[in-house]
Amino acid sequence: MDQTKINSQFPILKRKVNGKRLVYLDNAATTQKPDRVIDALKVFYSRHNSNIHRGLHTLSVEASDLYEGAHDVAAEFIGAKGREEVVFTRNTTESINLVANAWGRKVLRKNDIVVISEMEHHSNIIPWMILGKSLGIRIERIPVDNYGKLDLDECYRILTKNRRRVKLLSIVHVSNVLGTVNPVKQLSEMAHDIGALFMLDAAQSAARVKINVEAMGVDFLALSSHKMYGPTGIGVLYAGRDLMEEMDPWMGGGDMVRRVTNEEFEPADLPWKFEAGTPNIADGVVYTEAIRFIQEIGLDSIAEHERQLISYAMGKLQGLGWVKIYGPQDLASRMGVISFTVDGVHPHDLSSLLDDEAVAIRAGHHCAMPLHIKLGTPATARISFAVYNTKEDIDAFVEALKNARSTFLK
Ligand SMILES: Cc1ncc(COP(=O)(O)O)c(C=O)c1O
Repeated sequence: MDQTKINSQFPILKRKVNGKRLVYLDNAATTQKPDRVIDALKVFYSRHNSNIHRGLHTLSVEASDLYEGAHDVAAEFIGAKGREEVVFTRNTTESINLVANAWGRKVLRKNDIVVISEMEHHSNIIPWMILGKSLGIRIERIPVDNYGKLDLDECYRILTKNRRRVKLLSIVHVSNVLGTVNPVKQLSEMAHDIGALFMLDAAQSAARVKINVEAMGVDFLALSSHKMYGPTGIGVLYAGRDLMEEMDPWMGGGDMVRRVTNEEFEPADLPWKFEAGTPNIADGVVYTEAIRFIQEIGLDSIAEHERQLISYAMGKLQGLGWVKIYGPQDLASRMGVISFTVDGVHPHDLSSLLDDEAVAIRAGHHCAMPLHIKLGTPATARISFAVYNTKEDIDAFVEALKNARSTFLK
């Protein structure tokens, strides 16, 4: 990996914050964007902008081809069979809500069970809670053990004890708090063994782990472009063709329909049946540049680069003696993020003091409040990595952390 070449593609890394070099360690919230993504947005609006599907003029045909083609690129990236299996949503959250509404409301009955885990982001908790209120479905949670990993024996017990009632196992691939990498294949097999479906929240994994929905046995997959060097406002929902056909549209309106009379409507072909109204055409098109950026560097190289950064950062933090790190201690089981607390300093104060030194980290519950209740702390501080981070970034962060602590405890 040519670090200089990679970093030179991210214009934001050249800016100063508080007069100092920006050290951006908040990538789990959103990654920065390379020139090719930023430029592609300008090219789209300067040359191809038009509404899609309905037009017969040149610009509309071009925009339609680009937008539809972006679905093919996204499909290939996750090992789906084709564009019919890929819906563009706004983000991971909308993708999961689409499953809850289009699949859940059709298939689930009172007392059916959706199994999630204790390490889920709110976006994989609240849609099921909403269904719980309106349909009377139940939610069961796989516990997280003391090492920050899923208790797989307990998962097996929950699934088999309720084998007729469990309809879906919906799990995060890489935890945005603990960094835990969950064993997708094992989990999907457990779900399928009892006749349940398996959904994967790939928000934190899609930019660092090769995903193949077929090989991993994934029935539904959700991800966000903005966490993988792409624009905000675009997410993917993958579902196999049979499931896509079985599901009813969630939203109705233009673009999702083939024929309408006063009495009824016939939905459009897949995947457009789930993309009601004018979609986020420009960002959908631009998302392909983010995918190509990742593919050109290679997910294996990105993962290895980040593994070295995590190893280096964990070593430095552990060496300080006053930092508590959450999540698995073994590097093979974690990716992406390190959440931590410092005795006597609230994570929010840490984040503000680090910002004075141009080090961007996140503090709070990271949209995982139930997990923080389990961890026994209302908030953690979190650093998270991307392909452009370096050991110098970590050194700058650790220096700023030491300064913040001594300022605060003075
Ligand atoms: C694991 C996980 N799932 C879901 C989400 C929600 O992503 P979005 O806000 O892009 O919908 C996030 C965002 O941080 C996440 O980390």
